[in-house]
Amino acid sequence: MDRIGVIGCGLMGSGIAEVCARAGLDVVVVERDRAALDHGRQRLEASLHRARDAGKLSLDNTAFALERLHYSIDFSDLADLSFVIEAVAEDPLVKLSVFRRLDEVLRSRDAILATNTSSIPIATIAAATSRPANVIGLHFFNPVPVMKLVEVTPSLLTSESTVDTARTFAREALGKTPIASPDRAGFVVNALLVPYLLSAIRMVEANVASAQDIDTGMTLGCAHPMGPLALTDLIGLDTTAAVAESLYAEFRESQYATPPLLSRMIAAGRLGRKSGHGFYSYSQ
Ligand code: CAA
Repeated sequence: MDRIGVIGCGLMGSGIAEVCARAGLDVVVVERDRAALDHGRQRLEASLHRARDAGKLSLDNTAFALERLHYSIDFSDLADLSFVIEAVAEDPLVKLSVFRRLDEVLRSRDAILATNTSSIPIATIAAATSRPANVIGLHFFNPVPVMKLVEVTPSLLTSESTVDTARTFAREALGKTPIASPDRAGFVVNALLVPYLLSAIRMVEANVASAQDIDTGMTLGCAHPMGPLALTDLIGLDTTAAVAESLYAEFRESQYATPPLLSRMIAAGRLGRKSGHGFYSYSQ
């Protein structure tokens, strides 16, 4: 396979498109409208230029990756592809409409339709298509160029060959490490990570400790690369809440309930790094 489609060019989609292009694949990036596409393109190119300026990518390899990237707002530009990865907003209505559309446009009945969802059941997404055997979860981690893991999640209807192709793609084409994750809310990683992040938010809310001290505690006390509140900012407060809601809807356990402080911060537009403010402030 030498071509791939990536739908959505936000934080995750641009990272996925970047690693695919750096791996030598031709990438068709599709966004919902021109403004979102331009914004995503700027983000992606800035990331490649950062890697070049940091000496991690040679001038030739930066140019090579930039040439691999093609941008579109027309789903029919994906028609001839045999592998697409969806990375649009973590909203079931949006994801399902993308998969309905993909089902219409992809000509090859063998094409693989992967989703980067972090919380929506793969079976639900697969049911929006006429080819559930070809639908699979490929869950990347943020920042995608840095994080080595990909959770590979088949639904009960996903074929063995789809699983094999997706795992081989993650490992051999992208150099990531795939793990097998079950088709349940939060898969493996978020089911463990999100209660930890929510606990840290509840600690701030209850004035048990400051965000800074909690993060220092976990970075210096447990050697985590960043503390839970900085990590919530990195993931995005809205995304963290969306994943927590999916976990709560499936398991009804209080550890997954959204803390009121998180809801208030989202309502105030404090979404984390992407908005410049979350538990910390960031220069935009
Ligand atoms: N894109 C590309 N490279 C990046 C990057 C980005 N956005 N951010 C950092 N890097 C690179 C840096 O260039 C640097 O590379 P070198 O070591 O080769 O020089 C390296 O990562 C370390 O970066 P920094 O020195 O700038 O900063 P840092 O040491 O504080 O690391 C971090 C930043 C990589 C984000 C690190 O703090 C980390 O690993 N944090 C944890 C991230 C994490 O847990 N992610 C998972 C989130 S959960 C998720 O994504 C799933 C979900 O569904 C919600």
